[in-house]
Amino acid sequence: MRVCVLISGRGSNMEALIGGADNYTVEMVISNKPDAPGLKVAERLGIPCIVRESLHEIEYILYKMRPDLVCMAGFMRILPAHVTDEYRVMNIHPSLLPKYPGLRAVKQALDDGAVYSGCTVHFADSGVDTGKIIAQDIVAVERDDTAETLAARILEREHKLYVEAVRWYAGLSDAKEMPELFSNAREIASIAITDRPTYIERYDTAHRFGHEKPDTPTYVATTPGDPQSLVCERIIRLAEPDGNLDRIGYL
Ligand code: GRF
Repeated sequence: MRVCVLISGRGSNMEALIGGADNYTVEMVISNKPDAPGLKVAERLGIPCIVRESLHEIEYILYKMRPDLVCMAGFMRILPAHVTDEYRVMNIHPSLLPKYPGLRAVKQALDDGAVYSGCTVHFADSGVDTGKIIAQDIVAVERDDTAETLAARILEREHKLYVEAVRWYAGLSDAKEMPELFSNAREIASIAITDRPTYIERYDTAHRFGHEKPDTPTYVATTPGDPQSLVCERIIRLAEPDGNLDRIGYL
C-alpha cells in the first residue's frame, strides 16, 4: 500500500510512520511549509519530499501520484471535500475526539480540568477533526502537567497509534468480508460508562469492552465522567472494521 504523508512542521508522526512501514510504504512526503523541520528528517530517511504551498498544487501532486492512503501528520490545512472524497485520508489529533477538536487541543483539555485525555486516529473529511474514528488511546492528566508535558506524553502514544492504524488499513485488503453491523449506540454507551477508562472495540457484529487497549483497531475510548451523549457520539463515529465508510451501521 502506497502512502503519502502531509506535514507542516516537526514531522515526528511522519517519522514514526516511515519507521513503522512494513505492510505499507511511505512513498512521498509533501509539506505546505518550505521550512518545516520534518522535511530534513524525511530527506535523511531517504523519502522523496515536495514542498507546495497551495492546496491546489498539493492536489495536483496527489492526482499524479494516486496514493492508496494520505496521512495528515501535523498538516495545518483542511482538505476540501472533493479531496477527502477522492482519496482515503487519515489524521491524528491529540485529544479523545469529539472532545477538543481544532487548535491547542491539549491546552483545551487542561483548561477544562480534564483528568484524562489522549489521542485519536480518524478518517478525515472536510471538517475540523471530524470523520470516522479508527482508534483512540487514553493518557491520564497528572496534577502538575503543563500543556508541554501532557502533549509530550500524548505524542509518544500518537506515534504508536498512528502506525497501528495505518498497518490495520494496509491489511484490510486481506480481510474477509465483514457482516453488516447493526447496533444501538445508546444502549452500548449506557453499558460502557464505567468508573475506569474503557476501550470499546468492534468485534464482528457486536462490541467488546475492556480496560486494556485492544491489539487491533477499530476502537474508541471512554473515560470516567464522559457524558452518555459523548460516548454515544464516539460509538456512532467508530469506523467500520473493514474501513468501509459508506455503510450505515447504526440505526
Ligand atoms: C501532533 O500532536 C498531532 O496530533 C497534531 O499535530 C501534532 C504534529 O506533531 N495533529 P508532529 O509534526 O507529528 O511532530
